[in-house]
Amino acid sequence: METIRWNIKNDETDNNRAIDEAAELIKQGQAVAFPTETVYGLGADATNEAAVAKIFKAKGRPQDNPLIAHVATVDQLKRLVDNLPDYTEKLFKAFSPGPLTYVLPSNGMCAKNVTADLSTIGVRIPDHPVALALLQKADVPVAAPSANLSGKPSPTIADHVWDDLHGKISGLLDGGPTGVGLESTVIDCTQDIPIILRPGGITKEQLEEVVGPVMIDPGLANAKEKPKSPGMKYKHYSPEVPLWIVEGAPATIQKVVDRERKKGNRVGVLANNYTAKHIKAEEKIVLGENIHEIATHLYDALRKFKQGDVDLIICEVFPEVGIGQAVMNRLRKAATEYIDE
Ligand code: TXA
Ligand code: MG
Repeated sequence: METIRWNIKNDETDNNRAIDEAAELIKQGQAVAFPTETVYGLGADATNEAAVAKIFKAKGRPQDNPLIAHVATVDQLKRLVDNLPDYTEKLFKAFSPGPLTYVLPSNGMCAKNVTADLSTIGVRIPDHPVALALLQKADVPVAAPSANLSGKPSPTIADHVWDDLHGKISGLLDGGPTGVGLESTVIDCTQDIPIILRPGGITKEQLEEVVGPVMIDPGLANAKEKPKSPGMKYKHYSPEVPLWIVEGAPATIQKVVDRERKKGNRVGVLANNYTAKHIKAEEKIVLGENIHEIATHLYDALRKFKQGDVDLIICEVFPEVGIGQAVMNRLRKAATEYIDE
């Protein structure tokens, strides 16, 4: 299959030929990748089972992992779900469009492979001009997981999507780098108190400011409990070479790096500006100064370390405040070891 690639500027989405063509392909039941404010998504008409099946096939995604339905407005969102608890109105006002996915009882409007036969559906309104223009033009709910091969880091630039999926999908709208860099927060809104199923772009602190106490799925922190969100049980975001998380000051990290180098291992280091300055290694990728920059650059960095260049990646620990929770959640899922000596 030939993959059409369109370049599009975020401020030129009105009457745009690329948007028209991409929307037309979606209406015809094809799969098309597009930028959102979090990561690139691979979209297909959520009401068309055969179209949705193309997403699973292109990504090699397990059938039991449900997809998020993307819509342009709160009214469209309400057409896919039943039984909205009162607090959802507050959440819509505060965070939609934005990186928050609501899990709500499905009313059966979407194809059953979108929800992987669950009674609930994840829905969100992305905050990105290209995504919103595409959704408006396609005029159907668009099922879209992250546009990476299953198990790889999510794509934050169009080249990541191209590397993973060209030849397997009908189109790719290249709108430049995404902003947040990590996926949306997934929140279960079927209970009296909302439950975070996947930490992401909207933090627990932000949610609590709007709706009061919010719970975190115990399955996220405790290996013995099964996560409520099917996707969270899979190993994810894997770089080509093993990733170790090392807790401690730069001197502690350097000790582990040196020990591995003595064994003949070439070591790549992932760190913030400060730590990177204080460490010697074969390769270093500086993620940035603050936790937002770190989130934005994390997936690109994980893809940059290649087999043959390094044998091992060592990453420092970041404070789990704000979006730091999502950063550490993704790092733990990508890592093969957690070292705290
Ligand atoms: O930021 C994002 O959310 C990106 C962009 C493209 O919108 N999408 C994304 O989709 O990350 P995906 O498929 O990679 O992750 C969706 C997560 C999975 O962990 C899935 O299990 C969970 O949401 N999910 C979807 N529907 C669910 C449901 N009904 N109940 C519980 N978890 C659900
Ligand atoms: Mg994903």
